Amino acid sequence: MASRSQLASIVGSATLRRGGNAVDAAVAVGFALAVTHPSAGNLGGGGFMVIRMADGTIAANDHREKAPTGATREMYQDADGEVVRGLSTASHLAVGVPGTVDGLLSALEKYGTMSRREVVQPAINIARRGFVLSRDLAESLASVHAKFAKYPASAKQFANKDGTPYEPGDVFRQGDLGATLERIRRDGRAGFYEGKTANLIVAEMQRGGGLISAADLAEYHSVWREPIVGSYRGHEIVSMPPPSSGGVLLVQMLNMLEAYDLGAMGFGSADAIHHVIEAERRAYADRAEHMGDPDFYPVPVAMLIDKSYARQRFLDFDPERASQSSDIGAGAIPPAESPDTTHVSVIDQDGNAVAYTTTLNLSYGSKIVAQGTGFLLNNEMDDFSSKDNTPNAYGLIGREANAIQPGKRMLSSMTPTLVVKDGEILLATGSPGGSTIITTTMQVIMNVIDHGMSVSDAVGRPRFHHQWQPDRVIFEALGFSPDTLAVLQTRGHVNQVRARFGLGDANSVMRTKEGFRGMADPRNEGGAIGVNSMGTR
Ligand code: DON
Repeated sequence: MASRSQLASIVGSATLRRGGNAVDAAVAVGFALAVTHPSAGNLGGGGFMVIRMADGTIAANDHREKAPTGATREMYQDADGEVVRGLSTASHLAVGVPGTVDGLLSALEKYGTMSRREVVQPAINIARRGFVLSRDLAESLASVHAKFAKYPASAKQFANKDGTPYEPGDVFRQGDLGATLERIRRDGRAGFYEGKTANLIVAEMQRGGGLISAADLAEYHSVWREPIVGSYRGHEIVSMPPPSSGGVLLVQMLNMLEAYDLGAMGFGSADAIHHVIEAERRAYADRAEHMGDPDFYPVPVAMLIDKSYARQRFLDFDPERASQSSDIGAGAIPPAESPDTTHVSVIDQDGNAVAYTTTLNLSYGSKIVAQGTGFLLNNEMDDFSSKDNTPNAYGLIGREANAIQPGKRMLSSMTPTLVVKDGEILLATGSPGGSTIITTTMQVIMNVIDHGMSVSDAVGRPRFHHQWQPDRVIFEALGFSPDTLAVLQTRGHVNQVRARFGLGDANSVMRTKEGFRGMADPRNEGGAIGVNSMGTR
């Protein structure tokens, strides 16, 4: 198994060693990440879990946050209709109704084999006893120290008693979080959505002018959805359906690219990159128009993942020349049909597989710890379109399909994905990275299928990203040769930017002839543990 946190991966592999299956391990890791990786691991956020059991059963748990009942379409706009900066990311109004606890417990109940105690206890132990801060986490906490200072409970949770930032090597204990996890261990979902934890969340909302009510919490339930299933060069792709755009866009882009021999063009060649960018440009245009919560908006999923739709959508592709995003609209619906995140991959010895992506949205979410609970609240509301065609934190735009409505889930890009070959699990993958999640996940998959790479190469190799608007290509620094970039310039990809950080963090597990091999993305700290695992042991 592979995750962003070495300690969480130890919890996961110990769960497998004690006889748990991949779902038990993923749930235990989910709770552990809330303790060991607080920028994205969470109790106060949401996520998606894609499961494939060894018997071929597939399932997707949607525990995405929901807009509170009091939310309104224009809640982030001022009297002139201008979006107020920061309101959807750095305020109590930014917080969606959290889904993680219901989702993890529901997955455990449906597909796990262990008791709640067995999967929650390791997280409680780490929270109560504390763990030694790595340089990575200490520096990360220090970088948000000033933002936490605005909220007394956050400042207390993430700094020394005298208010100074933690340093690498300090022991980080989280007593309030341990107590919240104990209530979950004892009472299950009621330990979070009712009683003391719920009261503390509501009190925090009232203190800071947020909207989440006791009824919003009591009524929150995760949803089991049919996974998106596509195919790519003889492999089955199983991924997350709406309210994530991830699975749909992944399959749509792979459908567009299937007609071209990317393997022969070669990894990192200007030719292959050009093809991929053009598929990305068209798919992300469709995202902005067509995608949102399927419980509120008729997302044309069947059309978007149809192979003939992809062929027709790619008809204006010019192998020699970049299109202009301003010339690319969304695909029309035929009249008949009208109207800071983290990824975990687990495969157990029987071949049960889980791809799990979870998030508070931006790193450390809203930065608000609900006083007394020890956990951070998300700022997922920013994933809604606050106003038509106005970019969110990831530069993504949207319209009606993803407009705010009470009880609606905001559109996501999270793409937990399983790849199946000849009826057997081949790869579990996915990534954080906002809008770049989908293109990161796709590149890992193409690296395996088109370029025949090992999982370590597939995850480690440099990545690039395009999302229609803004019309630019982001390249990982030092990842691509200057002459490749120059060839792309001559083909019209003139707006090239270098990523300031690595794109994504695609912790993955793959089947090989010698057994399952895990790879923690080398871009960040993390751990891959298990038989034949690569990366940190
Ligand atoms: O659901 C989404 O698409 C975003 N909230 C994900 C945020 C994310 O990946 C941040 N991490 N880098």
